[in-house]
Amino acid sequence: MEQISKHYGRYKNFNFLCELTSVEYLDSLQSFEVRDSDIFLVTYPKSGTIWTQQIIISICELSGGLNEYPNNFEQMPWLEYTEGRPDYALRPSPRLFASHLTPILMPPGLKDKKAKIVYVMRNPKDNIVSYYEFSKIFADTEAPEGFESFFEKYLAGNVGASSWFDHIRVWNSARDEYNILFLTYEDMILDLKGAVTKICSFLGRTLSDNAIDQVVEKSTFKTMKKDSKANYKFIPKERLSGDFMRKGQIGDWKNFLTAAQSERVDQLVQEKLGDLSLKIIYE
Ligand code: A3P
Repeated sequence: MEQISKHYGRYKNFNFLCELTSVEYLDSLQSFEVRDSDIFLVTYPKSGTIWTQQIIISICELSGGLNEYPNNFEQMPWLEYTEGRPDYALRPSPRLFASHLTPILMPPGLKDKKAKIVYVMRNPKDNIVSYYEFSKIFADTEAPEGFESFFEKYLAGNVGASSWFDHIRVWNSARDEYNILFLTYEDMILDLKGAVTKICSFLGRTLSDNAIDQVVEKSTFKTMKKDSKANYKFIPKERLSGDFMRKGQIGDWKNFLTAAQSERVDQLVQEKLGDLSLKIIYE
């Protein structure tokens, strides 16, 4: 892995938190045996991963057949990182995984289109802000020198998981190759019950209206903030000195981006993703 800064390494054109994985392990994912019942949650960082993780776990718990684990991280481990990694071959089905990987790094067996992928996108302006704030509190990432320099690094793709624009493009371009549900963070904010219902139906689970309401209740910002299984407070303070659950809103970017920075993002979205006709909600 090419070391590109203290905490980041690049492999196959993708930036990893290099202390948490290895080339050998990443290569082993190419022969990872995917089961039809596997569920993968894929996101660019800071797009609502732990939120969707809580929704998927709650749906599976309430519809039955899920093994118990001490917290959401162990219930739905990060595919690309080796930390605390159990032997996945021994894990009972259904297995749940979270990942920030791009398609070429994912297990090829996913292309059989039986295992499911839920992909969540967040608008890039709020994503930058959330990533900036998180980089200040998470010891495994590079501490930013200030918002402006972080903004430049983000646009250049010099952060963990590389470029937001590339992530969105490659996953959207590969959508026909996978059994995949696309959602946005903003859709989830604007209609959480609608998003939960969509995920539940995509996963092929049946839940009563009452059970759907329970999933919604377990997944609100307020509930998750108090839920020690879901809020990642189990990460030691020396490593995570603040909250994963920060603001949980659309539009906080207005408190950070200048008009010129906001326009630059708009231009880049147009240049790099204009042909995909994405619906991106900024407020
Ligand atoms: P903010 O930093 O804007 O508050 P990820 O899990 O991919 O790292 O994303 C983290 C972002 O999702 C944070 O955004 C966090 O507050 C937000 N988030 C987590 N749970 C949420 C929830 N239940 N409702 C709304 N936002 C949530």
